[in-house]
Amino acid sequence: RQDNRIKTLMHVTPQDRLFVLTGAGISAESGLATFRGSGGLWNGYRVEQVATPEAWAADPELVWHFYSQRRRNAISAQPNAGHIALAKIEHQLGDRFYLCTQNVDELHEQAGSQRIHHMHGNLFQSRCTRCNQPFSDTALYETAATLPTCDRCGSPVRPHIVWFGEIPLDMDAIYRKLERATVLLVVGTSGSVYPAAGLVHIANQQGTRTIYIGPEEPLNHEAFDEILLGTATELLPALVP
Ligand code: APR
Ligand code: ZN
Repeated sequence: RQDNRIKTLMHVTPQDRLFVLTGAGISAESGLATFRGSGGLWNGYRVEQVATPEAWAADPELVWHFYSQRRRNAISAQPNAGHIALAKIEHQLGDRFYLCTQNVDELHEQAGSQRIHHMHGNLFQSRCTRCNQPFSDTALYETAATLPTCDRCGSPVRPHIVWFGEIPLDMDAIYRKLERATVLLVVGTSGSVYPAAGLVHIANQQGTRTIYIGPEEPLNHEAFDEILLGTATELLPALVP
């Protein structure tokens, strides 16, 4: 039955417009821990305790340290066959492909993805809390002992990460792309964080075919037309002819 479903997905034709949404699960087989899985704790903290504006206000060093460590993990990780398969699909579909990721690593880019949007920010960027000056100087993270400050206005520099309670980046562009998509493929996200988890509902309303890939059903599973149970590296390469 699963084989049949994979064949169905392979019928993404050159006329289709494919919108892909990925979550932490696609990087799991590259060795990066997911948030809500068994390894979802960081030094005994729940992610919600370090990834919030409140946590930043209370203990910026802790938050900076959290992201420094995640950034180091991301640097030593390699893209897996799932990331690579998506890059190949993009190569075939060109402008009919759009990748929206909740992940803050750059494994999609390393695999060759180009039409990609990081809706929850990026581990390799930071910005001034006051004047919004962006920083991509990775050395900022290496000196995690002291918090970096903006060279323009002297205010604290924060990770360019969308925290709980903050609005994801460029939602307008995401909705515009989704509006035009004929297929929504969601990979490796638990369906627990909105607005990302709500994209499948929008797709349904407009008649876009919806497919989920991951080892277990997401929380919003009832909204999907098709669910393929398996890991990203097991299932995504099979989609590339
Ligand atoms: N292949 C595919 N999916 C996998 C794999 C794998 N090898 N391993 C685990 N998964 C799935 C899990 O079954 C789970 O559904 O990946 C999902 C990971 O879920 P979460 O840890 O909740 O991660 P995600 O959904 O990306 O989190 C959303 O929450 O913490 C915030 O901003 C953060 O972007 C993040 C958001
Ligand atoms: Zn500044």
